[in-house]
Amino acid sequence: MVENALEALLKEERRFPPPKRFRERANVKDPSVYEQAAKDRLGFWEGFARELHWFKPWDEVLRWDLPFAQWFVGGRTNLAYNCLDRHLATPRRDKAAILWEGEPGESRRLTYAELTREVCRFANGLKSLGVGTGDRVTLYMPMVPELAVAMLACARIGAAHSVVFGGFSAEALRDRILDSQSKVLVTADGGWRRGAVVPLKSNADQAVAETPSIEKVIVCRRIGPSAGSGEVPMKPGRDLWWDDLVKGQPDRCEAEPLDSEQMLYLLYTSGTTGKPKGIIHTTGGYMVGCYATTKWIFDLKEEDVYWCTADIGWVTGHSYVVYGPLLDGATTLMYEGAPNHPGNDRFWAIVEKYRVSVFYTAPTAIRAFMKWGEELPRRHQLTSLRLLGSVGEPINPEAWIWYHQVIGGGRCPIVDTWWQTETGHVLISPLPGITPLKPGSATRPFPGIEADVVNEKGESVDSGYLVIRSPWPGMLRGIYGDPQRYRQVYWSRYPNLYFTGDGCKRDADGFFWLLGRVDDVLKVSGHRLSTMEIESALVDHPKVAEAAVIGKHDEIKENAVVAFVTLKGSAEGTPALRDELKGHVVKKIGSIARPDEILFTAELPKTRSGKIMRRLLRDIAEGRALGDTTTLAEAAVVQSLKERYEESE
Ligand code: PRX
Repeated sequence: MVENALEALLKEERRFPPPKRFRERANVKDPSVYEQAAKDRLGFWEGFARELHWFKPWDEVLRWDLPFAQWFVGGRTNLAYNCLDRHLATPRRDKAAILWEGEPGESRRLTYAELTREVCRFANGLKSLGVGTGDRVTLYMPMVPELAVAMLACARIGAAHSVVFGGFSAEALRDRILDSQSKVLVTADGGWRRGAVVPLKSNADQAVAETPSIEKVIVCRRIGPSAGSGEVPMKPGRDLWWDDLVKGQPDRCEAEPLDSEQMLYLLYTSGTTGKPKGIIHTTGGYMVGCYATTKWIFDLKEEDVYWCTADIGWVTGHSYVVYGPLLDGATTLMYEGAPNHPGNDRFWAIVEKYRVSVFYTAPTAIRAFMKWGEELPRRHQLTSLRLLGSVGEPINPEAWIWYHQVIGGGRCPIVDTWWQTETGHVLISPLPGITPLKPGSATRPFPGIEADVVNEKGESVDSGYLVIRSPWPGMLRGIYGDPQRYRQVYWSRYPNLYFTGDGCKRDADGFFWLLGRVDDVLKVSGHRLSTMEIESALVDHPKVAEAAVIGKHDEIKENAVVAFVTLKGSAEGTPALRDELKGHVVKKIGSIARPDEILFTAELPKTRSGKIMRRLLRDIAEGRALGDTTTLAEAAVVQSLKERYEESE
C-alpha cells in the first residue's frame, strides 16, 4: 500500500458500533466468547465440531507436530453429508440450497433435496469411471450449479477436487493437472462472460493433449450448439457428456465415512516462485473452520439469502460460496458472469431480484462501483441487505464508507474478513453483533485464533508482519508433493510461527490493520498473482532476455502489472512486440495476468550481487523520487530508465 494511503488509514478515527437492532438478533451477542475461547482453544473448536455429524467421533482434537497439524484425529466424517444429508430430515429439505443466475439472465433454484440427488447421481457417475477415495479430479468450469455438484460429489466419495479458475489458460490448466495427476477432468462446453463464450472445452482439449493421467473428460452442456459454431468436438473414448454420465445413475449414493485428515481438495495459488503451489486442505478441520466462521461472521439466519460474489475458482468461492453456507443450511446465491454485464448495475439488480440479505464482495469491486456512481445502486431496492462483507485486499476507508452508506444504507455492519488460500477460512474479522467497526481495519482475530504482529526477530510489536502463533482447524496441511517448500515458505522465517506474508499494524485497542503483501505476491483486482510467474511467462518468449515485474498502485485494481523487459540481441521493442508479449502472458497464465504496461529497457537495475532491484522499479513506476541507489551496480541505468518511463506515460 502506498505511504500516503497508509497514513490516511492510521488517522482513521470513525467508529461504528453494531446497530441495536442488529445486535439484538445476532448469533453472537456475548463479548466473553473471546476470553472463553482463549482459555480453552481446543474445547472451543470442539464445540463447533459437535454440532456436525461424525460417523465416528475423534480421539484427539489436535495433534501438532510442527509444522504438521492433524485435527479431530481418528474421527470419521463426510463433508458432503454435512452439507446435504444432515439437513434432509429438517424443513430445510425443501429450502433453496442454491439460487443461480446465469449471465444471460436465466434462473435456477435447487432445494437441498434436489441438490443432494444431483450430487449422488454425479458421485455414482464418477464411481462408474473408476474414481474413488484418494483420486484427484480437476474441475475447470464456469460458475454453474454443476461446479458445486461436482465438488460435493468428490467430497462424498473421498476424491480430492482441484478447481482451476475458468480464466486460466490451457497451459496453466495443463500444469495444474500435471502436478495433481488427476484422473478425470470435468469441464463445460463454455461459460458466459461479458456476453462472450469462454472456450473452456477448447482450452481443456489443448491441456489434456499433454496430460497422460487424464482418462476421461466430462463435459457439462452450458452453452449448447445454438450460441456457438455448433456442438463442441468430443473425442471418442475420452470425452463424455455430463448428462449421459448421470443418466440412469441411482439417486442415492452413500457418503463415505472418511478419515478426518482425508485430502478434501487441492487449490493452486501463486507464491514467490514461478511455479504455483498446490495447497492441500483436508476434511474434518476445514469443515469445522468453515462452519464456525460462516455462522458467526455472516450471522446467518434461516430466512437469509446469502451472496458471495467470488468465483468458485478461488478459495473464497470454495469456503464461502459452497461449503460454509451449505454446512450452515443457508441459501447461497451463485452468479455466473461479470458485474458490468449488460449494465454496470447488474449486481444491484440481482440483490433486488433475489432479496439478498447478506452480501460479500471484494474491495476492488466496491471501488469500481464507486467510480460508476451512486446513481446505479440507487435505481434498485437494496433494503433487503442487512450485512455486508469485504475480502481479498485491504479496503481503504473511503471505499468502506461508500459501501456502508450507499449500499448498506448506513444500517448494515461490514465484516472485513482477512484470510488466505492457505488458511482455509477467515482468521481475522469483526463479529458483527459485538465488534465496533473502524473503516479499514479487519478488527480482531476470530475467537480461538492466536494472531500477532512481530518484527524481524519475531518479537511482538505494533507494526511489522502478521503471524499466527498456533494451529487452527482449516490450516493448509502442506504443498502437494513438496513438504520442503511448505516448511520453507511458511515456517522458516520464524521457527514456530506461521508467516502470512502480510504487513500489519496493531492499534491501541488491539485492532489489526492489514497493509498488503510484503513479498512478491501481487493482488490484482483481488486475484492473486506472482511477479515471478509473470516474469517466467515473459522470459519464455523467444525475443525476451530478462524481465522484472512489479505491482504499481492502482486506484481500482489495487495493483497494475508493470513489466520491464530487456530483449535479446537485435530484437526491437516495437508496439507490436509489446502486444505480442502481453498476448504471450495471457497464453501462459490467463488474461488476469496481462501486463498493463511493458517498458523495454537495455538493462535492468541490479545490486552488485546481481539481484534485480524491484523497489527502485516500483519507485520509477509510481513516479516517486528515487530511493537509495548506493548498492546499485549502474546508477545511471536507473536514471535513464526513470526518464524513459516518464516519457512513455
Ligand atoms: O494480502 C492478503 C490479502 O489476500 C492475501 C491472500 O490472498 P488469497 O490467497 O488469494 O485469498 C484471498 C481471499 C481469502 C492475503 O495474504 N487479503 C485477504 N483478505 C484481506 C487481505 N488483505 C487485507 N484485508 C483483507 N480483508
